[in-house]
Amino acid sequence: MELRVATEADLGILAECHILSFPQTLSAKLGKAFVMQSLLPFVQDKNKFMLFILEDGKCAGYVNANIRDGSLGSASSMLQSAFGVGLKSVLMKPWLLFHREMLEKAGLVLRNIKFRIAGNPKKKNVYKTPEGSLVVGLPGMCVHPEFRGRGYATMLMLAAEGKVKELGYNRLRCTVSIANPAAWKGHRKIGFVIVEEVKGQYKMEKGIN
Ligand SMILES: CC(C)(COP(=O)(O)OP(=O)(O)OC[C@H]1O[C@@H](n2cnc3c(N)ncnc32)[C@H](O)[C@@H]1OP(=O)(O)O)[C@@H](O)C(=O)NCCC(=O)NCCS
Repeated sequence: MELRVATEADLGILAECHILSFPQTLSAKLGKAFVMQSLLPFVQDKNKFMLFILEDGKCAGYVNANIRDGSLGSASSMLQSAFGVGLKSVLMKPWLLFHREMLEKAGLVLRNIKFRIAGNPKKKNVYKTPEGSLVVGLPGMCVHPEFRGRGYATMLMLAAEGKVKELGYNRLRCTVSIANPAAWKGHRKIGFVIVEEVKGQYKMEKGIN
């Protein structure tokens, strides 16, 4: 078992782990090529990174991070990167237009169509602590079903925290569905606190000393 910083060469196994971890999500239904392309910003962009556990040639789990420096948010970055592949996939599987998430995320999709036509918006959504440090979001984390219950999620979250500290930032933020106690209980155990409850989701934060 080895903890690694993800590179473009790892995207295939990262996508396989994602699809097995979130089998009912729209991204999984859109297919492996879509997921690989949507994860690409996390291995390419200067304000993002991705860590994963390699075991038996598989990705046993990953966590990705996004420094909230005013660039596009993680959902839009992912959608912009995978837009073309996603469009092709929807044309092949038009019933996905009626997937629950497609309807829930219609605003995000429309915004991103606009970005493609009119260009990305100027810098916005800079998130800072009262002391002025940028906040780092952890927008995605999962553990491959074969490797759950071994402390890997905890290991990934703590490793991401260590890297964020190394980069000089001191606050982590993530959003977790209230219906996913496995995730939020795990986060709470390592010091995250619930700061807000919005539309069935907990916004959680952790300060790093
Ligand atoms: C949530 C998830 C990441 C947990 O991964 P894991 O490696 O099994 O978690 P860990 O072994 O590190 O467990 C850490 C803590 O999380 C909590 N936890 C993990 N699985 C749990 C479960 N099935 N039910 C309740 N709590 C659970 C516990 O508090 C656990 O601590 P404990 O073992 O001391 O009781 C994994 O189940 C997963 O990938 N689920 C699907 C994708 C997902 O929900 N991602 C998170 C989105 S924010």
